[in-house]
Amino acid sequence: MKVLILGASGATGRLVLKHLLDRGMETKVVIRESAKIPDSHRDNKLLECIVGNISEFGMDEFYKLVADCDAVVSCLGHNISFKGIFGKPRKLVTNCIENICRAIMARNDTKTKLILMSTTAYRNTGMKEKYGCGDRMVLSTLYYLLPPHRDNVEAGLYLQNTIGAGDGKIEWVMVRPDGLFDEEEVSGYEVHQSPKRSSISDPGKTSRINVSDFMIKLLLDEKLWKEWRYKLPVLYNIELKTEGN
Ligand SMILES: NC(=O)c1ccc[n+]([C@@H]2O[C@H](COP(=O)([O-])OP(=O)(O)OC[C@H]3O[C@@H](n4cnc5c(N)ncnc54)[C@H](OP(=O)(O)O)[C@@H]3O)[C@@H](O)[C@H]2O)c1
Repeated sequence: MKVLILGASGATGRLVLKHLLDRGMETKVVIRESAKIPDSHRDNKLLECIVGNISEFGMDEFYKLVADCDAVVSCLGHNISFKGIFGKPRKLVTNCIENICRAIMARNDTKTKLILMSTTAYRNTGMKEKYGCGDRMVLSTLYYLLPPHRDNVEAGLYLQNTIGAGDGKIEWVMVRPDGLFDEEEVSGYEVHQSPKRSSISDPGKTSRINVSDFMIKLLLDEKLWKEWRYKLPVLYNIELKTEGN
């Protein structure tokens, strides 16, 4: 299996890349000229590194990107800076996902797995998930005020509503972490169909390494993939109870 990773220079994407290479899997990444890939990966024959800005790629480049890949993992996200949040490209994730899907659909061969890193702030419209009134108000306001949130929502809607379960050429999973943080090792985590807490007033925590671990398991474990395809699993780290709690 060869896996195309988008956002491989990011905090989560680089973990996905490392974990895939550690497992001896072929990978392809697209990174911006300014981005860094660890020196230890540079001479790795399993890694194909394309330098360029994916948000400026035309369809021909997308066709080439997916041509020899069996799976795509997107960990793309807007940089947390004024330019990253309010500047262009406002539809970084949505446009990339749409173009990747178009390129996959133009191929003649069999199915491709697509994993999108989304967020608990994306409501599963298919399951009519009910968020509290306060959460709905905050999230709808953020949709208009915060372009990266709108981008995540639109990318999710495209996968759920436009691609859907389709003809099976694209099988997707939208992984939804809650508040992201970094930790060194994979730890215990829970996977749910829907959020168990408010992402606004009572957010949980999800370590990026656990997100990466779950994504790799999805790719490698066919049973797990079948369990979650076309679904939007929510990940929470298991909080260790301290004395007195
Ligand atoms: N923060 C949270 O608590 C939270 C919770 C749930 C979900 N999420 C979502 O999770 C996703 C990934 O999070 P993360 O922390 O791993 O992200 P991150 O470290 O910010 O990585 C983002 C990736 O996207 C790339 N990128 C950003 N702007 C780009 C552009 N204009 N053109 C091309 N590539 C661009 C970055 O490339 P460079 O290295 O070149 O900048 C990087 O590889 C995001 O979509 C975020 O919304 C976040």
